[in-house]
Amino acid sequence: MAKYLGDWAGDYRGGALAVLRPASVSEVQVLMRLCGELGLGVIPQGGNTGLVSGAIDSKGSGLVVVSLERLSSIRQIDTENFTLRADAGCVLQTIKDACEAQDCLFPLALGAQGSCQIGGNAASNAGGINVLRYGMARDLVLGLEVVLADGELWSGFSGLRKNNSGYDLKQLFVGSEGTLGIITGVEVKLFPKPARTETAYLGLASFGAAVALLNRARRNCSDLISAFEIIGSECIELARLIDPGVRAPVLAPVQVLIELSSGPTVDLNRVLAGFLGGALEEGLVTDAVLATSAAQTHAFWAIREGLVEGQAKRGYHVRTDLSVRISDIPALIEQARRFVALEHPGWIPLAYGHAGDGNIHFNVLPPLQLAVAEARARGSEITAGLYAIAVGLGGSISAEHGIGRSRSGEFWSGLSPTHRRMVTALKNAFDPKGLMNPGCLLPSTETVP
Ligand code: FAD
Ligand code: LAC
Ligand code: ZN
Repeated sequence: MAKYLGDWAGDYRGGALAVLRPASVSEVQVLMRLCGELGLGVIPQGGNTGLVSGAIDSKGSGLVVVSLERLSSIRQIDTENFTLRADAGCVLQTIKDACEAQDCLFPLALGAQGSCQIGGNAASNAGGINVLRYGMARDLVLGLEVVLADGELWSGFSGLRKNNSGYDLKQLFVGSEGTLGIITGVEVKLFPKPARTETAYLGLASFGAAVALLNRARRNCSDLISAFEIIGSECIELARLIDPGVRAPVLAPVQVLIELSSGPTVDLNRVLAGFLGGALEEGLVTDAVLATSAAQTHAFWAIREGLVEGQAKRGYHVRTDLSVRISDIPALIEQARRFVALEHPGWIPLAYGHAGDGNIHFNVLPPLQLAVAEARARGSEITAGLYAIAVGLGGSISAEHGIGRSRSGEFWSGLSPTHRRMVTALKNAFDPKGLMNPGCLLPSTETVP
């Protein structure tokens, strides 16, 4: 069962009574009914790439992991309506490739796309690099098929973009992290595949300049931006742990990867080159390299992907996905850096992320000589300090990775009594026996009616 009980980064190790691998929706129904009769809690699991211990429970020796991996077919691609239906266990990359073959785009894009599943993406409301243009999983899901806690099947597919009839039930399951039901099928919106894409790697003097550039780029480039990733220069050496040959295309303390995409009639190269020319002239951007080949574009993105893999390779580290208003990004990074320098000297802060969405991954690496147990204990303190900074700025402790088990305490204690009552009422309405992913999202005692 090992591969179902450990996470990608090696942070969490779980237990389980069994791993069940249903091969059909009706098998999911049968297993839910059986688990209900036996009083067994269930952990739905997709590609197991989640970063907050939502699909793994270290105390879960009495729970059953339900892997969706054998429900892996694309059911339908409708190029007239720009929609796709797939089994929940279909790997995101498989969906993206199938859409591309039909000249369509499914825009959800993240580092884990070769392993994560569309059901897991919906259950965790995944974000990624194209959110500023296309939205999070929540914005892309048109319908869901769900096996409820009592084994009943709800088929919520319609193919409709507009359907204003009562509660939007599918949205309750999006981001529910397996606590309300098992998603067995997903229907999503597609887009025309962009005929043109332009990518540039930029150097800037500060995070403030990067935020100003984003605002300007949105107005000047007719909102054609599909990615705007920010990378603190301190992150580059992490990418080198994966590929020692990596070199940032610019030398600057703050670096930005910007991507524009459009249909065939827009002279996108001119739009981006013209915009960057102006920004360079004014000194807002200090250096810029516009990719001139697919290989160069790939090399730019390899830096962004490598710095994430490099952190996992280095070992345990504090990982966050803080969310603030875009205009507060510079304050967030400045306060967080000051906090680490003053209160945790020797720890190494890294700032990067989806600046276009106000989502900063402010991660902190322990000093290399520190024993792992000590690093983990100190890491919890650092995490709490970073959450307090984000919340102090009116932000959120989770922009995109979710709550899982690793943040359920902080999540719950940050809610008002009214908010808690509504969450508990929903949980109890869908899962009165508390079988669905116990301990995830809500601390387990809160699921008791
Ligand atoms: P899992 O990890 O298996 O599960 C995640 C949660 O969803 C769990 O609570 C689980 O119980 C529940 N779940 C899974 N499948 C179902 C189902 N069928 N029905 C009901 N509940 C279910 N996330 C982002 O948002 N943006 C990023 O940019 C991003 N980048 C990443 C990069 C890397 C290298 C890695 C390792 C992870 C990254 N992630 C990112 C986190 C993760 O990949 C996403 O959250 C992803 O959507 C999880 O999908 P999964 O199939 O692996 O789900
Ligand atoms: C990223 C993941 C870790 O943005 O969310 O790389
Ligand atoms: Zn991210």
